Amino acid sequence: MIRLPHPIPYQGSKRSLAPMIGRYIPRGVATFYEPFAGSAAMTIYAAHHRLAERFVVADSLEPMVDLLRSIVDEPERTAARYRDVWEGQRPGELGYFNEVRDRYNSKRDPVDLLYLICRCVKNAIRFNGSGRFTQSVDKRRLGMQPDKMRGAIMGVSAILLGRTEFRVGDWKETAADAAQGDFVYMDPPYLGTSIGRDKRYHQQLTQDELCEGLEGLMARRVPFALSYDGMTGGREYGPPLPASLGLTRLLLHAGKSSQATLSGRNEETVESLYVTPGLAEPVAGVIRPRALQESLAL
Ligand SMILES: C[S@@+](CC[C@H](N)C(=O)[O-])C[C@H]1O[C@@H](n2cnc3c(N)ncnc32)[C@H](O)[C@@H]1O
Repeated sequence: MIRLPHPIPYQGSKRSLAPMIGRYIPRGVATFYEPFAGSAAMTIYAAHHRLAERFVVADSLEPMVDLLRSIVDEPERTAARYRDVWEGQRPGELGYFNEVRDRYNSKRDPVDLLYLICRCVKNAIRFNGSGRFTQSVDKRRLGMQPDKMRGAIMGVSAILLGRTEFRVGDWKETAADAAQGDFVYMDPPYLGTSIGRDKRYHQQLTQDELCEGLEGLMARRVPFALSYDGMTGGREYGPPLPASLGLTRLLLHAGKSSQATLSGRNEETVESLYVTPGLAEPVAGVIRPRALQESLAL
């Protein structure tokens, strides 16, 4: 299996599911939109496999977009500065993380954020209401080695530089110009994990808002795929989307749930992928994995 470059170890990244989702991307896409980009795993997959001519990478969280832009547009500076920040730490010296965090919160250099993401608890970013990074250090590891980081940064820049536009904002605005020959991949925060006690992401999204935006894309005949809800060990975490949207729901077998494994349970995680009509058919020459075919037959 080819290992794609991934400089941002983002909790919730679609990196491992990318090959399964990628099977539903039509060939010859003009612009590939990823409006809930996070670490942009699907954009990296699509660019690596030359599935689109151009890319729009967007997120409502400005610091993430700044970081992605810095990786793609200024790879040398980003890799060199990451090395400096990383080499400034000493094993066991925990105050260093807090120094970098304070510096990031006053100067907002995206490379400081990259170091913080690499070293924070569960690689799970947290920002407070005033935009300050608040997550704490994971004491057990030092974060990605500078040589490995440099390789990942150079790899991502090589496939995206000059072909990518970065946008900050709500997904409906950042994907507003997507048209029929384009493709939109969406991975919004799960309703099941972002509403209620576990507020992982800074911005809440309701199912009604989501459906309204999806209807807009369908009215413009934009093909899209949406990762949405799922289940672990038979427990669903998120309400299904209304059938009236006319989307096909595919079930992707995402493997063992790491959360459940930590709690001593051996549970399979299944994630939904909703696709627009026509996309559920196999792309010519692409063979679907067996697990997927079985799900489709359900
Ligand atoms: C589940 S993560 C996406 C992870 C991504 N697929 C990856 O591979 O790393 C969801 C992302 O959506 C962003 N987000 C939340 N609400 C949003 C909104 N209304 N518009 C655009 N982005 C939003 C969050 O900041 C977060 O980065």
